[in-house]
Amino acid sequence: MRSTRFLHWFLIVFLASTSFTFAVEEKAVEPGAKIFEETCLSCHKGKETLDQVRLTRDKWKEAVDRMIDSAFLDPVPSKDKLKTLLDHLAKTKGPADSVGASKN
Ligand code: HEC
Repeated sequence: MRSTRFLHWFLIVFLASTSFTFAVEEKAVEPGAKIFEETCLSCHKGKETLDQVRLTRDKWKEAVDRMIDSAFLDPVPSKDKLKTLLDHLAKTKGPADSVGASKN
């Protein structure tokens, strides 16, 4: 009887910890990172990587607008997606002295 109770307790702790792990893993993929991957990395990989590029939000916006004007983005992401993307870029690929800075 005692051991059955222990087993129940163990199962509850085990299940709770696995669902916690899932939650953390899902959170790790930011929506902005996903949009970046889907929209930009088809071209910007290997030699054309943007890994070292650090820009302010405004400069990222200029670059993305240029990508759109050049008809590189097909389909062009919605306004909401672009905002999420620019927030992500400004946060993770901003100049060292203004990381996290974001106008709007
Ligand atoms: C269809 C291919 C293609 C896609 C998709 C694309 N780009 Fe580009 N990108 C280019 C090319 C070609 C250049 C070089 C010509 C230029 O700068 O206009 C470039 C240049 C750039 C530059 C300047 C690079 C530097 O080293 O200064 C940035 C920044 C940039 N892209 C950002 C983006 C972002 C952000 C996205 C996604 C929203 C994106 N690009 C999607 C083809 C692409």
